[in-house]
Amino acid sequence: MKTVLITGGSRGIGLATALRFSKEGWNVYITSRKEENLQAVLKDHPNLKGFVAKADDIVAASTTCQSIIEEIGSLDVLINNAGTNPSAGSILEVELSAIQKTWDVNLMGPLMWSREAVKAGLKDSILNVCSVGGIKPSHFMGAYNVSKAGLIYMTKQLAMELAPEIRVNGIAPAVVKTKLSEMLWADEETSSNLHALKRLGEPEDISNLIYFLSSEEASWITGEVVTIDGGFLL
Ligand SMILES: NC(=O)c1ccc[n+]([C@@H]2O[C@H](COP(=O)([O-])OP(=O)(O)OC[C@H]3O[C@@H](n4cnc5c(N)ncnc54)[C@H](OP(=O)(O)O)[C@@H]3O)[C@@H](O)[C@H]2O)c1
Repeated sequence: MKTVLITGGSRGIGLATALRFSKEGWNVYITSRKEENLQAVLKDHPNLKGFVAKADDIVAASTTCQSIIEEIGSLDVLINNAGTNPSAGSILEVELSAIQKTWDVNLMGPLMWSREAVKAGLKDSILNVCSVGGIKPSHFMGAYNVSKAGLIYMTKQLAMELAPEIRVNGIAPAVVKTKLSEMLWADEETSSNLHALKRLGEPEDISNLIYFLSSEEASWITGEVVTIDGGFLL
């Protein structure tokens, strides 16, 4: 049985991904920053296991990856999903501390978890949850967009450095209905109309692609960042 670790698995895309891997018969570990969030998810979904860990904490990353190897014997796939956007506004005006936090969680975090997972013996692949914001600039989300552009490039860099043993891919979603993006779909009709397919993404749209890219069926794909945006970029 294969094992996957998903950062930020307590809700949204991370939880949908955890449930998809679990349905496919994998051992699934998630992380959350908060004990109460983690326990609530584990109570609702007893097949999942988890650790309290912040996305930008290298000690937590190291301890989590090593604990999984000790408990299960191997770690096959890492999904760098945890992300944040506390820095809405012009990148020229937002508090530097908020920009730093965004880059720490969204860019340094995936690097830290990737390094620690590889050090612990990661076997198959890494998947980074990027964003269309990393491809096309938008107002109000500059710090977030720059972090995701960095993550797209880092996906390719890591893919090159970790080949041929480990594949590294990313996905770049447009607006998905989750807590993180609430402010983008407060007016759902207007937001839906920005997508050619006239609807917002659901977490399950995204977890299907994450699962495919992490599975054997994608075993000749590495260094790719697949856009999944309902036609937003058309
Ligand atoms: N929703 C969208 O429209 C959209 C579009 C493109 C890309 N994405 C990306 O998709 C990923 C998942 O986001 P989502 O939309 O599913 O958001 P979400 O529903 O708000 O979930 C975010 C998850 O990350 C965890 N998290 C938040 N801040 C964290 C931090 N500082 N350190 C560690 N964990 C943290 C949360 O867990 P706890 O609160 O329990 O710690 C939660 O499980 C993110 O990387 C996001 O940038 C989202």
